[in-house]
Amino acid sequence: MGASDNIPRTRILGTGRYLPEKVLTNFDLEKLVETSNDWIIERTGIRERHVAADHEASSDMASEAAKRALKASGVDARDIDLIIVSTVTPDMPLPATAMFVQQNIGARADCPGFDLSAACAGFIYGLSLADSMIKSGSARYVLLVGVELLTRVMNWKDRTTCVLFGDGAGAVILGPSAGDGRGILSTHIYADGSLAGALCIPGGGSRLPNTPETLAEGKHLVHMIGKDVFKFAVKALASASNTAIEHNGLRPEDIHKVVPHQANIRIIEGVSKRCGIPMERFYINIDRIGNTSSASIPIALDEALEAGAIEAGNNIVFCALGGGIAWGSALVCW
Ligand code: UT7
Repeated sequence: MGASDNIPRTRILGTGRYLPEKVLTNFDLEKLVETSNDWIIERTGIRERHVAADHEASSDMASEAAKRALKASGVDARDIDLIIVSTVTPDMPLPATAMFVQQNIGARADCPGFDLSAACAGFIYGLSLADSMIKSGSARYVLLVGVELLTRVMNWKDRTTCVLFGDGAGAVILGPSAGDGRGILSTHIYADGSLAGALCIPGGGSRLPNTPETLAEGKHLVHMIGKDVFKFAVKALASASNTAIEHNGLRPEDIHKVVPHQANIRIIEGVSKRCGIPMERFYINIDRIGNTSSASIPIALDEALEAGAIEAGNNIVFCALGGGIAWGSALVCW
C-alpha cells in the first residue's frame, strides 16, 4: 500500500461508464477520407470508436454513466453535494450540462453543479477539485463525470483529426475515506496557454461567433496540430507521472497500474519508457474506444475494475494531457 498512515483522504467509491452502441471502424473511415486501417493502427493504436446516436446529447451519456457509478458506490443520488461535469462538448453553452445531469439522476434540487473545461485533462482537474472540496468539508459526496460527444465537432473531411476521436462518458463517485490510508494520495495539475492554438475549436465563441462563412470554413470544429501536441505530451505526461510517484516517496516499481488518457498508443509507450514502468502495467483500451478526451480515464478505470485489473491497496497513476495545453497526474491508493 502506498500509504499506511491514517490521514483523511478522498476515495473513489464507485465508477460507471456509458458508450453509445454504434461503432465506427477504421474501415468505415476509409470510405470517408483518404486513410487506411493500417495507418491508423500503426500511428495511433486505434481500431474503432463509438459514435453517439442522433438523439443523444452529452448529458444523456453523462447521466447514464453517473447512474451506474452511483449504483456501484451505494451512494444515494440525494446525498451528492456537488456535480462536476468535465466536457468540451456541453449540451449547450448555457446552462451547464451538470444541470441536466442533476435532473436526470434525481439529485437534490439544490445540489450545486457546473461544467469544467480542461479538455482531456478535465478528469484530473476534477479529481483535484473534488479532493479539495471533500477534504475541506465543503462536500461529502461528489459526482465527477467526464463526457464527450466529439464526433459532433469533428471535421469529417480532415483525416488528421477525424480518425482519432470518439464519444462516451465515465463517472466516479468520490467521498471521504475510512482513514485506512487508501484514497487519493496527491493530484498535480498544470497548463501552458502559449500552446492554446495547437488544439482548439476556434469558432462559435465570443472571439469568432458563428456566421455562414465561419461555418463553411469549419471553424466550429476541432483543429489540431498533432505533431506539436505529441511532442509536448510525452514529456509532460512522463514528468507529471514521475512527480506524482516521487511526491509520495514511491518508485516506479511500486506502481501497480497506470490508467492513462488514451490519445495515442505511441504517446503511452513514450511515457512508459520515460517513467520506467513496463507497458503491461498500463491499462489500454484505445483500440476499442479511441480518444474520448475527459471521458477517457474514467471509462478506462471502470473497464479495468470490471476486468479485475485493479485490487485493493494497489497504487494507481492517472495521467492526461490535451487542449490548453492542460495536463496533470494523480496517484491513488486503491
Ligand atoms: O487528446 C488530446 C491530445 N491529442 C493528442 O495527444 C494527439 C497527439 N498527436 C498525435 O497523436 C499524432 O500527431 C497524430 C496521430 C495526430 C498524427 O500522427 P503523426 O505520426 O504525428 O503524423 P503526422 O502528422 O506527422 O503526419 C505524417 C503523414 C502526413 O503525410 P505527409 O505530409 O508525410 O505526406 C499526413 O498527411 O501522415 C499523413 N496523415 C495520414 N495518413 C493517412 C495524417 N493523418 C492521416 C490519416 N491517414 N488519418
